[in-house]
Amino acid sequence: MCGIFGAILREGRVAPLIHDGLKRLEYRGYDSVGFATLHSGSLQVRKDAGGIDEVVSSLRMDEMPGAIGIGHTRWATHGAPEMVNAHPHTDCEGKIAVIHNGVIENFMELKEELINKGHSFKSRTDTEIIAHLVEEEMKGDIELGEAILKSLKRLEGSYALAILSPSDPEKIFCARHESPLVLGVSDDGVFCASDVSAMLPYTNRVVYLRNGEFAVIDVEGYKITKIQDGSPVERELQEVTWSLEMAEKQGYPHFMLKEIYEQPKSLRGSLRLQQAYLDLLTTLLDRGRELFLVAAGTSYHSCVAASYMFSKLAKLTTFPAISSEFVEQYGSSVGTDSIILAVSQSGETYDTLKAIDHARMRAATVLGVTNTVGSTLTRVSRAYLIQQSGPEIGVAATKTFTSQLIVLAQLALKLARTRGKISQDEVDDFEERLMRVPSYVEETLERHGKGIQALVDKYAGEKLFVFLGRGISSATALEARLKLLELTYVPSLAYPAGESKHGPISIIEEGVPVIFLCPRGETRKDIIGSIMEMKARGARIISVCEEGDREITMISDDIIEMPKGIPEVLSPIPYVVPLQLFAYYLAVQKGLDPDKPRNLAKSVTVP
Ligand code: F6R
Repeated sequence: MCGIFGAILREGRVAPLIHDGLKRLEYRGYDSVGFATLHSGSLQVRKDAGGIDEVVSSLRMDEMPGAIGIGHTRWATHGAPEMVNAHPHTDCEGKIAVIHNGVIENFMELKEELINKGHSFKSRTDTEIIAHLVEEEMKGDIELGEAILKSLKRLEGSYALAILSPSDPEKIFCARHESPLVLGVSDDGVFCASDVSAMLPYTNRVVYLRNGEFAVIDVEGYKITKIQDGSPVERELQEVTWSLEMAEKQGYPHFMLKEIYEQPKSLRGSLRLQQAYLDLLTTLLDRGRELFLVAAGTSYHSCVAASYMFSKLAKLTTFPAISSEFVEQYGSSVGTDSIILAVSQSGETYDTLKAIDHARMRAATVLGVTNTVGSTLTRVSRAYLIQQSGPEIGVAATKTFTSQLIVLAQLALKLARTRGKISQDEVDDFEERLMRVPSYVEETLERHGKGIQALVDKYAGEKLFVFLGRGISSATALEARLKLLELTYVPSLAYPAGESKHGPISIIEEGVPVIFLCPRGETRKDIIGSIMEMKARGARIISVCEEGDREITMISDDIIEMPKGIPEVLSPIPYVVPLQLFAYYLAVQKGLDPDKPRNLAKSVTVP
């Protein structure tokens, strides 16, 4: 995720506004920053890796001349956070400046084609190909706008773009497909940005671009057309009533709620892994005798779930390990034919990095899954996958958890295909349903976004919660419990349901709420048995189950209904969502700040 800001002023210098706009978009990432402005027909670009204020002040970017300009704050996806990879990117002649938020999936082939035509590239980004594509189209003696439109038709993937060039010096060219872009109009000028928060100090009259739209802005206003056929789009300005603070959170009261709602989008992003990296990790995994999935906290819970995916689908012996315990527990048995797959959204968790150090010392193969390009984990892993969730500000992990799961599921399926341990038809079927997971989550949010409040009201006074699940759902139970515990401070337990009768059941007395995860699948019969055991001891049963599951509904006090057709092995992704909402709303009800639970930090870089 990155932030885009552009403006055309009637008078004055635009650079300080770009600086201010990007600061408001800092939540979208801030590993590099760059501006391009136009003045007297010449394009100036200044950019570097580093925080916004630091780079702007060291390159004196506030002083850049010109009333028209674009700026970008980067959160690396392709290429490390270094100066060459910072936006804006330019063509060979340095006359077309492009800023981009999103991922161009077919950039490798386009890059090769452009290199063969004589273009030379400076960065490792996907974005740079856009500047060269436009340059190439302009050789056909067409105008800039037309060249951009032609180039857009060749792009696959997601983008929000702003393009500036002395070839048409009074305009900024914008386009959107799956990454957000909004235009704004005031008496002083016209703006474009990744979201309204960036432009709210200047205007509250905005128009949102939709997928597949191209817009040209100048000081008089905007013109929108469809990328596909160039047909005009009429869309009126609308007035935004949000305060600045609300706008940063896009109208949500907390980052956590915003991030819960972002999950359909972040999951779609995580489904766009680069095949070459997926193939490389699969090949390395296939060489292993055993797989250790190593992580802490929520990331450990994705490892617990993934251990079921790897052993069920790919038939690979897999051990999930808490990173702080890894060396003690497995340290002396790890060897050259062990694979350690470390999972860490920050890529900086001390315990996880320590476990990796040990594994490397014993010549094991270390692989990584992280959300942070350039993190230590990416440097110490033999190969890694970036989960592409976008930055997560809320301390409690939500969208990074579900993204980790969908990345690990893709890896397990790819390995299953390679190893041929389950039938091709089955793999095809899982893959098809994996693609539907973002929609299952969307449906779940629509259904329970508001409705969960009634359940929160009913159980707000409880002093203890118990979460139980069988099979892969025991991982969902662990994560749902961690969310509740860390956000509301209400003591709670989570166990594999079959284990509960070996001790935890003694805590059950009349009225204790027990939350069961009951997706349809192999474990459903057993979970019904566990529900009956708990009911017999007076527990109140809240079941998360498939819509229309009459048997579970009949034996439960409350149910949270989930969409039909979710395979059990993928169920933790959608099934955790209503319980993230439950924990969030219960924290709010208790007057706690869900974005900043006490005693916790987003990244734990100490022993
Ligand atoms: C809980 C949470 C933590 C992290 C843990 C590992 O909501 O966010 O438990 O999951 O500190 O962090 P990463 O994934 O950065 O290694």
